[in-house]
Amino acid sequence: MTQSLTIRRPDDWHLHLRDGAMLAAVLPETARHFARAIIMPNLVPPVVTGADAAAYRSRIMAALPAGMTFTPLMTLYLTEDTDAADVAAAAASGLITAVKLYPAGATTNSASGVRDFDKVRPVLEKMAGIGLPLCVHGEVTGPEVDIFDREAVFIDTVLDPIRRATPGLRVVMEHITTSQAADYVAAGGDTLAATITVQHLMLDRNDMLVGGMRPHYYCLPILKRRDHREALLAAAISGNPRIFLGTDSAPHPTHAKEAECCSAGCFTAPLALSCLAETFEQAGALDRLEAFTSLNGPRFYGLPVNEETITLVKGDPIAWPDRIGAGEATVTLFNPGIPLHWRVEA
Ligand code: NCD
Ligand code: ZN
Repeated sequence: MTQSLTIRRPDDWHLHLRDGAMLAAVLPETARHFARAIIMPNLVPPVVTGADAAAYRSRIMAALPAGMTFTPLMTLYLTEDTDAADVAAAAASGLITAVKLYPAGATTNSASGVRDFDKVRPVLEKMAGIGLPLCVHGEVTGPEVDIFDREAVFIDTVLDPIRRATPGLRVVMEHITTSQAADYVAAGGDTLAATITVQHLMLDRNDMLVGGMRPHYYCLPILKRRDHREALLAAAISGNPRIFLGTDSAPHPTHAKEAECCSAGCFTAPLALSCLAETFEQAGALDRLEAFTSLNGPRFYGLPVNEETITLVKGDPIAWPDRIGAGEATVTLFNPGIPLHWRVEA
């Protein structure tokens, strides 16, 4: 008997689309399955002003193949020079859906990020006033903090103080990777949400490091111990409506991943829903998948849920290409290392 699951069309609440040939290559992979996505602003140079976001949105729409529909939800990259009035105008016009906070140096293309959090206080106050969410890359960057501890230390030393100092600020803890983050979001009130990626639900650091180092599993925040992955999965299927999918699909050219200094990011967009269906099914929680992929995100962002649906069908293990072309380069697909039985019906 064929097993199938029809759910509202998902959205991706954290996505890297890049620009140019890479944008053209990866955009259809997301638009095929997802209706909307929060678009990360960490281009080089970053998307910092309303004008930058408008121009980037136009490039995204121009790259969308005919016949596909997709709504990019734009974000601004918060810098110490960000103008609160520009942010407010971009939000009021509907151009942007959130502002992104990168601590300086935390991840790919984050050199323009924030060093002195007092400098962004006026912008955060304005955002709290107008209800504009702040998406947070939650890792400290000081060399004294071990990479596996950066998220937990960020919560205590940066995130919690920011939230206490800015009551009402709506915050999305992005791509959470630890039990500490899962606990913090569970205890946070209505103004706090979290996204979780595919790879952090499926893999732990052993998968990345035991028996050889796998560059396509290297992403930031870095994969943690197994008990953290179990805590994230428990959070994803817990029914907490403030926890939802943000794939953090982050394409890099294959040659930049398979390099002496490997770029951080997993290109999960093409297989994200097959991976999630497999993972939720194994956890006995297939009935929780729709809330995670399609209901909780719009609810937190105050947007309508999608009216269209998609159907996932279970069958023989699916096949997928190792990589896709992107201009002169290729991008290697995330491979979870287990057979995937669920495919999205065309
Ligand atoms: C992202 C990228 O490549 O832009 N990389 C990643 O490992 N997730 C940046 C980010 O979201 O941290
Ligand atoms: Zn990201």
